[in-house]
Amino acid sequence: MPSLKLDVRTSVSGSPDLVSFFLKGSALPAGVPAAEFDGGAGATVLLRDKNQRTLVAGVGEKAKIEPDTLRKAAGTAIKALLKLGASDIALDLSAFPEYAGPAVEGAILASYKFDGFGKDASKNKRGVLTRLQVIVKEADIATARAAAREAEIVATISNTIRGIGNLPGNLLTPAILAEKAQDLASGRALSVKVWNERHLARDGFGGILAVGKGSANPPRLIVIEYRGGGKREAPVALVGKAITFDTGGISLKPGAQMDEMKWDKMGGLAVLGVMLAAADLKLPRNLIGLIPAAENMPGPDAYRPGDIITSRDGKTIEVLNTDAEGRIILNDAIAHARLTYKPSAILEYSTLTGAIILALGHRRAGMFTSEDKLRDALVAAGKSTGEQVWPMPIDDEYREAVLSEVATAKNAGYREGGACCAASFLKMWAEEIPFVHFDIAGTAWNTKPPAHLEGGATGFGLRLTLAALKAGLPVP
Ligand code: BES
Ligand code: MN
Ligand code: ZN
Repeated sequence: MPSLKLDVRTSVSGSPDLVSFFLKGSALPAGVPAAEFDGGAGATVLLRDKNQRTLVAGVGEKAKIEPDTLRKAAGTAIKALLKLGASDIALDLSAFPEYAGPAVEGAILASYKFDGFGKDASKNKRGVLTRLQVIVKEADIATARAAAREAEIVATISNTIRGIGNLPGNLLTPAILAEKAQDLASGRALSVKVWNERHLARDGFGGILAVGKGSANPPRLIVIEYRGGGKREAPVALVGKAITFDTGGISLKPGAQMDEMKWDKMGGLAVLGVMLAAADLKLPRNLIGLIPAAENMPGPDAYRPGDIITSRDGKTIEVLNTDAEGRIILNDAIAHARLTYKPSAILEYSTLTGAIILALGHRRAGMFTSEDKLRDALVAAGKSTGEQVWPMPIDDEYREAVLSEVATAKNAGYREGGACCAASFLKMWAEEIPFVHFDIAGTAWNTKPPAHLEGGATGFGLRLTLAALKAGLPVP
């Protein structure tokens, strides 16, 4: 990734393209007809004055402005300017200094695009953001600088994990993901351990092994530790599904859009991103990140419908559908978190069900928890970061759907309420530990991206979780 020079100043240096933010109801810029631009959130107009381009981005009415308003407005403006070939851009935040963080975050997130590989890559010529100036008044410079710096850390890490997320299954196997996690962690205050098949077998990770068995690319469990909190403080465990490609296995998926299943690893990458950012931000918490990684393939050695698997904590799973593989690798990791680290809470992220997309669409993730305080804190963090979550039920009544005659549970319940059945299944492995499940199947990537972001992996979950942790996520 090209490096970016971020500069918070009181006046513009050089001759960058300008972004100015516009309150609805203010006097329109000279020569702009009201029919073309009303200053509403999302509206933009490009002004050209000799050698100067200014992108005016509407932010709507003052009373309705939220952090995400500026994040989106900045992102939309940057995306539009990069399309015009810009690379040196200044954001005029002199009227909105308190939003320097979100604006910088939006700008950096919008600057990332997966260009692919080879000589035909990046066919659409597009500028690369190399310099970003943030203009505020003298009195605001210290706070704006600190906020901009934090936003830069978080957005840059988000773009890094989006870049890994956009790699296809042939280039990003479980072993390669583990290597990338190790590379990224080195030089940071993080320790990484990787379980290979031999270690997984020794320690009873029957679920990860079963799902990984059909593939020539063997599974891994990546465990990352960050200790920024007190010696005696119980850690928060973060668990993320990393299926590097999901064919469905023997219960093979239909061909249409199967290529999108390269993004079935985004839960794991969200967890990796939180761990990297926690270290860079020196978050005063103890965190354990667990990323079970496998490729779900049909093959001579693949697991099959009817198989009974013993997971890490001795509970058994009757496999009814090999395409419900996420919950099988996650259970091992959830049980491992519970047994090994006694965490104060387990937060788990997965592109788990198509059912959550039917329920909520692509702009909100489903959040399943029975802990009221955790739920409220995470909903608030979702709102402020724009990674919005919607509370969904995880009550015992859904558990009946996944109880098995021959094992502790079966991996597929009813089609109706499928996302809730899946969540209730996972919770059995968390037992008494406060548990939150995020079903990010609809939000982990965009095929129809919004105006402020390019398509592909979104990194959903990373910014939401960091915001919640920074605000002091109340563990019950
Ligand atoms: N990774 C998929 C879920 C998914 C589907 C995410 C589409 C994003 C878009 C998951 O492993 C899966 O296949 N789930 C099945 C579960 C079913 C077999 C019980 C599903 O949702 O159809
Ligand atoms: Mn599947
Ligand atoms: Zn899957």
